[in-house]
Amino acid sequence: MALQLQHPLTFQSSKSPSSLPIRRSHLLRSPHRVSMASTIGVTSKETPNGKKPFMPPKEVHVQKTHSLPPQKVEMFHSLENWAEENLLVLLKPVEKCWQPQDFLPDAASEGFDEQVKELRERSKELSDDYFVVLVGDMITEEALPTYQTMLNTLDAVRDETGASLSPWAIWTRAWTAEENRHGDLLNKYLYLSGRVDMRQVEKTIQYLIGSGMDPKTENNPYLGFIYTSFQERATFISHGNTARLAKDHDNLKLAQICGIIAADEKRHETAYTKIVEKLFELDPNGTILALADMMRKKITMPAHLMYDGSDDNLFDNYSSVAQRLGVYTARDYADILEFLVQRWNVEKMTGLSGEGHKAQDFVCGLAPRIRKLEERAQARAKEASLAPFSWIFGKELTV
Ligand SMILES: [Fe+2]
Ligand SMILES: [Fe+2]
Repeated sequence: MALQLQHPLTFQSSKSPSSLPIRRSHLLRSPHRVSMASTIGVTSKETPNGKKPFMPPKEVHVQKTHSLPPQKVEMFHSLENWAEENLLVLLKPVEKCWQPQDFLPDAASEGFDEQVKELRERSKELSDDYFVVLVGDMITEEALPTYQTMLNTLDAVRDETGASLSPWAIWTRAWTAEENRHGDLLNKYLYLSGRVDMRQVEKTIQYLIGSGMDPKTENNPYLGFIYTSFQERATFISHGNTARLAKDHDNLKLAQICGIIAADEKRHETAYTKIVEKLFELDPNGTILALADMMRKKITMPAHLMYDGSDDNLFDNYSSVAQRLGVYTARDYADILEFLVQRWNVEKMTGLSGEGHKAQDFVCGLAPRIRKLEERAQARAKEASLAPFSWIFGKELTV
């Protein structure tokens, strides 16, 4: 999945007012359908939040659940043939798929030492900034168990058994299996490069999977597939940009690695946007309302609960380096929205209800508004500060 972004419109920072602690007793009494989720950051290194040790370092509270009306469950079931014919054909047979080993030194070959030496030499030409972004990308990919879980929270399309033969479930498992190669490849490359503190990186992955995520998709496949459409395009863009930067530094191997991952993300984007296109065809009002809802809530990035055991602002700091390098920026967020609005023909949609029209106007006017806000934010650019990253042995970078 995707890289993240530090931007007031794109995610709820752990520093936001809504992240004030909420008492557990209060949560247990919370009604089902409430809006707003909040996160709580770690306040003490020794005993995170003074909590029990098994509690995740970043908690998400109060999520709206099961917002898909029961009559729409049937619609997804009736789409199974469609999913088989339109979705499953976008999967690649395993025998035709690339594997991480295709791009890495072969430990079983005589030339292994030489190949590793070459990889390490080449990686010296890339900056620490670049490695922090690549690590963040890799960690995001490595939290894949969370994303498979997320897809299986969605009503009407979840994998009911773990080996269900419903086309929705087949897609989710095969998608996960394809995605699994991304983190694997980047992880092995980073390990061999010798440029990063692998133990810190591995700890961050463990913390992140333990914390989960809050995509605000409410078990609702309308919201879920809009979210994944956005995310797959975001990862296509960010991996594409790390490929381009590697190429600029003549690191063709790494450019190829990031590029081949970006190509998968593009194919996945095609699949998820196709589902939403179909939803627009069958239920234009319901789908435009869902799109407006997701955009109002902002697309929360998948690794927003990232933590390494010491830096409470790790996600913000990492996002800020990604923004500075142009790997994933606030402009990209607006561009993705604009792309999806065009892809789904949202502007030209007719026959909507009053509420549907309002949602359409909101969504169509949002990208320019985001860009304007972003320009203003740039104009008041905050003073650059330095932050240490445990992933690169505590070296400080501008954030
Ligand atoms: Fe992806
Ligand atoms: Fe991926």
